[in-house]
Amino acid sequence: MTTTTTTAGAGVRDLGKRFGEVRALGGVTLDFPAGRVTALMGENGAGKSTLLKILTGDHQPSEGTVLLDGAELVLGSPARARAAGIRIIPQEPEIIPHVSVAENVYAGALPRTAGRRLDRAELRRRITADLDRLGFSRVLDPDLLGSQLTPAQRQLVEILRALTGEARVIAFDEPTSSLSEHEVDALFTLIRRLRDQGVAVVYVSHRMQEIFQLADRIAVLRDGMLAGVLDAAEAGEQELVRLMVGRDLSQLFVRQNVATDRVVLQVEDLTTDEVRGVNLVVRAGEVVGLAGLIGAGRSELALALAGDLPVRGGTVRLDGRGLRPGRPGEAIRAGLGLAPEERKAQALFLRRSIRDNTSLVVLDRLRRWRFVRRGAERELAQGFADRLRVRASGIEQEVRTLSGGNQQKVVLARWLARKPKVLILDEPTRGIDVGAKAEIYQIIADLAREGVALLVISSELPELLGLADRVVVMQNGRITGELDRAEASEERILALAMADDLSGVGGRGADGGPNGHGGRTGPGGPEGHGDPGREKEPRDEGGRP
Ligand SMILES: Nc1ncnc2c1ncn2[C@@H]1O[C@H](COP(=O)(O)OP(=O)(O)OP(=O)(O)O)[C@@H](O)[C@H]1O
Ligand SMILES: [Mg+2]
Repeated sequence: MTTTTTTAGAGVRDLGKRFGEVRALGGVTLDFPAGRVTALMGENGAGKSTLLKILTGDHQPSEGTVLLDGAELVLGSPARARAAGIRIIPQEPEIIPHVSVAENVYAGALPRTAGRRLDRAELRRRITADLDRLGFSRVLDPDLLGSQLTPAQRQLVEILRALTGEARVIAFDEPTSSLSEHEVDALFTLIRRLRDQGVAVVYVSHRMQEIFQLADRIAVLRDGMLAGVLDAAEAGEQELVRLMVGRDLSQLFVRQNVATDRVVLQVEDLTTDEVRGVNLVVRAGEVVGLAGLIGAGRSELALALAGDLPVRGGTVRLDGRGLRPGRPGEAIRAGLGLAPEERKAQALFLRRSIRDNTSLVVLDRLRRWRFVRRGAERELAQGFADRLRVRASGIEQEVRTLSGGNQQKVVLARWLARKPKVLILDEPTRGIDVGAKAEIYQIIADLAREGVALLVISSELPELLGLADRVVVMQNGRITGELDRAEASEERILALAMADDLSGVGGRGADGGPNGHGGRTGPGGPEGHGDPGREKEPRDEGGRP
């Protein structure tokens, strides 16, 4: 038994992890003190999730040790780590679809009656108490089935799970990526409370602002090694970016003026279950930003345009030609591309390579006679992998084994490579590190210069303001206004995003903006039943060195 540290909390010593050829971690020595929030930052593929999975017994280290209160700990399995009080809220929540929230939370330790049957009364008592204690009773109905949960609710279930029993170390792996503002506030309050109770909190995120709000210490991983540990109160953003990326990022956004007058995408009165009477135009070379809060209907609009959701009425024209609704193949052939938000579920072939996944929609162009030109395909995939800094052993690596952020990059690469006439990007930089973000912004600018019409959905207001020639704002399935680059500001976007809530009787906001859609079809309206959690409130990610 080694006692290389005397502080309470967890730690790792000379930790290393290999996956075949890939060295995910090497020689990492780091403490996670009790009563502190230690942020773990680094580029996609730097090894953050791998480190957490070693702490939680999901991965066995190739070398090195894990400590708890200075004593070496052998974590042969997740059950052992759990028994030792180490918990994780994973990057991808694991939810059992056919049982209730309450059963999901206490899975493995369900209360039983004397007759060994599920004790429903006790289950109800526990879940109610836990929801109250954590301040989540209003956002999570314990009777919902796993399959009915939004991404945000799935995350809350994981949080509840982690907090049952006595936790000593709790690790959060990008917990806010699908949470709304309220939920993020509740989560932060909770994390601070845990910290004050003496829990060692490990917090992984790509959002600078969150890190500076929450963390006491910031540890940076680069290429699987510890690049440095900063005191959060003293650290500056630039310093942090340099540690993560290994270079300075001079400029994040590209300012240009290449929008033309030629309308490429024309949407008239488009109506679906969630989208009501949307009118929208995107011109060649124009970048239109689509803003809104939770359940505003932005992703639904995107899916409807791409033919992936049933349409009730209205028309979509691309270069003047009508697109028949509900036909994704036709939309793609006509030149409309959508990089959806739920990338893993909707868009990736997890058991195929980076090369396959990148070239998927461009194969027709790479084809000569009946044969795909393999050389060209490789070149294309390699080019994007390099540019977006996809961290992998090579383009033949299975997408399943990539880090979360690197998977996102592969889906994006696919659509960026295709250069459609209209490209819709739904939260293109969620979960992506700051270095690769800068590249994505550059690629968007390049596509605009080549005449692509771009519609970018983002919950990061600085991103919309930095990218868009024009910002269109939605609430409750309707467009509530639009701002051109000169007039757009965070305050004005937010005012339009909450137009209905602010307007009251005869108030401003529902006047529809320049496009003139006053078309309110009723109060309330769909709060994005499909997936309210997935559109988080705009938050400044910072990261603008
Ligand atoms: N099961 C696996 N098989 C092979 N390689 C893996 C496996 N899991 C992770 N890796 C590799 O280990 C490296 C570190 O991945 P990890 O998921 O820890 O990154 P991360 O820092 O969490 O990134 P992100 O910010 O994108 O989530 C990556 O290069 C990844 O491809
Ligand atoms: Mg990760």
